[in-house]
Amino acid sequence: MPVPVMSNDFDVLPGETLEQSQATYADLRRRCPVAHTDSLGGFWALTRHADVARVAADYSTFTTTVQNVVPKVAFTGRRPPLHLDPPDQTPYRAALNPLLSAERVALLEPVIRAIVREELHPLVARGTGDICGEFSGRFPVRVFGRWMNLDNALQAQLMDAGPAFIRAVQAFDNAAMKDTSVVLYDMAREVIAQRKAHPLSAEADPVSALLAVRIERNGQQVPLPDDMIIGTVRQVLVVGIVAPMVMVGSMALHLSRDPALHRQLKQNPALVPAAVEEFLRLYTPYRGFARTPVKDVEVSGCPIRAGEPVALTYASANRDEDVFPEPDVFKLDRPNINDHLAFGKGPHYCAGAHLGRLESRVALEELLASTRALEVCGEVLYCPYPEIGPYQVPLRFVSAAS
Ligand code: HEM
Repeated sequence: MPVPVMSNDFDVLPGETLEQSQATYADLRRRCPVAHTDSLGGFWALTRHADVARVAADYSTFTTTVQNVVPKVAFTGRRPPLHLDPPDQTPYRAALNPLLSAERVALLEPVIRAIVREELHPLVARGTGDICGEFSGRFPVRVFGRWMNLDNALQAQLMDAGPAFIRAVQAFDNAAMKDTSVVLYDMAREVIAQRKAHPLSAEADPVSALLAVRIERNGQQVPLPDDMIIGTVRQVLVVGIVAPMVMVGSMALHLSRDPALHRQLKQNPALVPAAVEEFLRLYTPYRGFARTPVKDVEVSGCPIRAGEPVALTYASANRDEDVFPEPDVFKLDRPNINDHLAFGKGPHYCAGAHLGRLESRVALEELLASTRALEVCGEVLYCPYPEIGPYQVPLRFVSAAS
């Protein structure tokens, strides 16, 4: 295999807008689909759909155990299922998946709708506000607390610690990230202690489901290791919070620029699920997750050495013109919309995809029902890696009642 030549094919600029990032990816897909950058500690970016999908599925060559985002975040512990490859990852997913099935998640819809209304209506009534900071950064935390059956004290703590962790990640503030991670670990330990003392049904409670798992070790059936259960609970305490926040910000921003679509969806709520799916493709909130090759490899002819971080750029794959014609255009009737990679692919395919979809749909339905139009009235701020999309969208809400 030829010796790889590391070149700086692109830069990650601080404060990049979504449009700037997507313009870079469009250029790379044409010119240099497997691209290296020295930015953020140095990494390879896969930008074409076929490469991203193939590598995401090939977990025996591309491990997630070294780092799963770029830039590499401070290591505060191993957190399944994201930080393990199969077969080690499998029992964690087996415990969580039934609690996140389409049927089980559908039962949460009335709760989600009530929470969404409680958080959204005061904002719309006030007339202006940041839809991310004041709405979509909040309601998923409450939904999550309900799904995890957190008591009121832990729920209140999560309302502080979850968004604080996200702010630290957005600011690349390693010290704050470690501090908030410690708080989240303490919360994980507390909820596990509560469930050990008073178990809930494994069919209705994620922590009880993890505690009930038995795996084979030296011919014996044993529970999952305590530190791994703590890591899993710590992982799920935040994993489902950021993406819905960014998604709602992106959808609102799009509607503010496309009032005809706002009217169309408001008049035809049956179109909302298809709209959410196309928004997920167009505004994939996780730019990409990382993997590390365990041996020297070639991706589309480009040599990558063992140990070099590789970003699976889901946000670029979803705008690959070879798969989605006119990729920057919102279309409600794409025949192959299910090929989008907003929830990833392979063994780490998002465990919470049904919940993420439902939260996005209910938020969009309620936003459409309560407004006639949305107008941007301040500065929009954009997430750095590993997310993509806005984390601040100040809006004027033209109320449906006005
Ligand atoms: C619109 C919302 C969401 C999007 C776009 C999204 C996206 C993703 C993506 C792309 C991955 C794959 C990571 C990788 O390739 O390494 C992932 C993993 C994961 N997501 Fe989501 N997510 C969303 C909401 C949620 C929610 C609400 C939950 C709640 C439980 C959740 C739980 C998880 C978990 C546990 C994993 C790790 C799966 C594993 O490693 O096996 N997600 N998500």
